[in-house]
Amino acid sequence: MALTIPSSTKRVHLAKRPKDFIDGQTFALETIPLRTPGPGEVVVRVDYVALDAAMRGWIRDMRSYVPPVKIGETMRAYALGTVLTDAKTVKKGDRVIGMFGWAEFVTVGESSLRKITPPPYTDALDFLNLLGLTGLTAYFGLLRVGNIKPGETLVVSGAAGATGSTVCQFGKLLGAKVIGIAGAADKCKWLVDDLGIDKAYNYKDKGWKDAFKKEVRTLDVFFDNVGGDTLDFFLTRLNQNARVVLCGAISGYNSQSFSGLRNYMALITQRAKIEGFLTMDYADQYSEAEAAIARWIREGKLKRKFHIETGLAECPQHLALLFQGGNTGKLVVRISQEQARL
Ligand SMILES: NC(=O)c1ccc[n+]([C@@H]2O[C@H](COP(=O)([O-])OP(=O)(O)OC[C@H]3O[C@@H](n4cnc5c(N)ncnc54)[C@H](OP(=O)(O)O)[C@@H]3O)[C@@H](O)[C@H]2O)c1
Repeated sequence: MALTIPSSTKRVHLAKRPKDFIDGQTFALETIPLRTPGPGEVVVRVDYVALDAAMRGWIRDMRSYVPPVKIGETMRAYALGTVLTDAKTVKKGDRVIGMFGWAEFVTVGESSLRKITPPPYTDALDFLNLLGLTGLTAYFGLLRVGNIKPGETLVVSGAAGATGSTVCQFGKLLGAKVIGIAGAADKCKWLVDDLGIDKAYNYKDKGWKDAFKKEVRTLDVFFDNVGGDTLDFFLTRLNQNARVVLCGAISGYNSQSFSGLRNYMALITQRAKIEGFLTMDYADQYSEAEAAIARWIREGKLKRKFHIETGLAECPQHLALLFQGGNTGKLVVRISQEQARL
């Protein structure tokens, strides 16, 4: 594909903060001039953007680990792109990842880019999934916070999503008995039949909690992506010295009010730990995790799954899929004509 530099770019910016679910007013598409790069800057063509559940938090005006996206600002998003201009550390044609946002082209400082070289049996797009934030979150959450050990029982909520399905696979690789919780029968079937986990429960089925109590009974590590009632239920299922890994709480991301946990006293009686974490706190150990994940991929021990949508203008509707259970595996949107080889 020709690497020509346009004079303008389409982008999607935050137009109005949603009260609950993202709607037609939340974002707006526009065309703006593309800034000419200054010293130390390059133009990048955005090829794919990752859609992450955390993005709902980024448009909420509240104290968090990053400042909220401002009204009128390009929607923040991790992305994979191609460099279109030469600079000191990158040259035309290099594949890079960075926080490019929902845009066709961006002018960015070269120090904000990471040039990538896909390891054997991977594609550049894997840096938005197993070799990116998703894989790193699963790795540090399960190994460092969950401290999973062979033979232990691991329960994963949001199990068929990007993070959850990676945690499930890491759990099996590390010798745990893995139970997944997901919101559809076909997702549960994929987890058991394709990813090889031990059992999966559809949380939309009546009676799934009773079935879990009867069949699995208790757990050692609960890796939670969902929060709310799901977390509250699993607090009643802890073994002694269990670890509850608070990765996310997607059931509350579109809500203004949160109800508290009722069963937290189980943490006392079971001498259990509950701990939240952010992947970025492990930045100094990313290379260790990336090497382990690349090795597992090379050895054929990890399966990657993408849910690929297309179109910059449609990013808002695609983002909403995460909150409707519309994705299995990693949700990404292709923005340019550059196709990943998966
Ligand atoms: N701590 C960190 O540093 C960090 C980093 C990355 C991600 N995370 C967290 O990891 C979690 C997963 O994020 P992701 O980007 O990988 O998304 P994802 O799991 O690929 O997609 C979200 C999934 O959540 C499920 N879901 C949505 N609403 C739900 C509800 N009300 N109750 C139960 N399940 C619901 C849906 O599946 P079903 O069909 O099963 O409902 C959906 O497919 C999020 O909580 C995110 O905030 C944390």
